[in-house]
Amino acid sequence: TLFPVILAGGKGERFWPLSRQNRPKQFLNLDGTDRSLLQATADRLLTLASGWDNLWVITSAQIAQGVREQLPELPSDNLLVELQGRDTAAAVAWTSLEIQKRYGDDAIIGFFPADHWIADQEAFVCTINAAIELAATQAAIVTLGIKPAFPSTGYGYIEQGEKIGSFNELPAYHVNRFTEKPDRQTAENFLSTGRFSWNSGMFVFRAGVVLKELHKHAPEIIEPIEKFGPDIYQDLPKKSIDYALMEKTDIAYVLPAEFGWDDLGDWNAIERLLKKEGIPNVEFATHVGLDTQGSILYSTNEEDVIVTIGLEDVVIVRDRNVTLIVKKDRTQEIKQVLKTLQSEP
Ligand code: GDD
Ligand code: MG
Repeated sequence: TLFPVILAGGKGERFWPLSRQNRPKQFLNLDGTDRSLLQATADRLLTLASGWDNLWVITSAQIAQGVREQLPELPSDNLLVELQGRDTAAAVAWTSLEIQKRYGDDAIIGFFPADHWIADQEAFVCTINAAIELAATQAAIVTLGIKPAFPSTGYGYIEQGEKIGSFNELPAYHVNRFTEKPDRQTAENFLSTGRFSWNSGMFVFRAGVVLKELHKHAPEIIEPIEKFGPDIYQDLPKKSIDYALMEKTDIAYVLPAEFGWDDLGDWNAIERLLKKEGIPNVEFATHVGLDTQGSILYSTNEEDVIVTIGLEDVVIVRDRNVTLIVKKDRTQEIKQVLKTLQSEP
């Protein structure tokens, strides 16, 4: 059995104004289905968990009620609520500790972001089963490597080392080096060697193994939680698991992840997913466009009509009192703009 944990505490600010403080990205339906990203993630993990009793979610206090509403079958003891988001290292540390308390050192845990799109469910399950097999037989932090499509600066990079064997018919490699979010030049160098993959952001390991590694590499996070419990959360350093652990550990392994994957990080990902050939724009609104292409148009009000003339490569989003208009290649900067707004309109 696997104890899958959904990391659901992020804000998803690059989807603002669709994502708001009490309605973060995880709650949105962005993939063209009627399930939110969070619900789709849970659906995907249920067979691996053999039911709701083994599935866990960790999220922030602000959106915990929304998580309960979205996942009514989730047992309340399996929902960990953070007083304040401290990024993923603290989330991994706390959840691993709770699962270890309940099920012991050998419990196999998988961490899964709530903002992924996965094409082939069957291949996904096969790959996770390979990761479970590897984690059960070795003291391993198992990662899944995605074949990189371009020198992205928004992902972690995994350098593949020696092959250590096959698990569930998939080859597993030692990780030589893990580099989180490199600059453009470094990413280009990595790609040119052919030895690197993108980190999918999913991790599988035994509870005892990850806790030992956290003690070794991130004592400033695991020790206070162990000693004082989650009340200490505000005082913990804000660090992602990629920086706190993955860049430091010597026992990381990587399996090839070939199930069709995308990180739904910003509007461009929505376009990659939903753009149809021959249709000029991606539309979630009544749109009348003259000479408009390569654009994404979204309104949450069914009565809205968006009219555009002579536009190319823009994103227009209308939600209640806010209209956002941004060039497609600058959606990363929405985060910065939000910082300058004193309070969210
Ligand atoms: N509970 C909790 N608390 N969850 C959090 C927190 C937190 O403080 N911060 C982020 N999360 C959740 C997000 O909701 C998301 O589901 C997941 O953790 C990953 O966080 P992101 O902020 O989306 O990380 P990233 O996309 O920049 O980078 C990670 O994922 C990439 C692949 O998508 C890294 O692991 C990269 O190495 C990786 O390539
Ligand atoms: Mg992400």
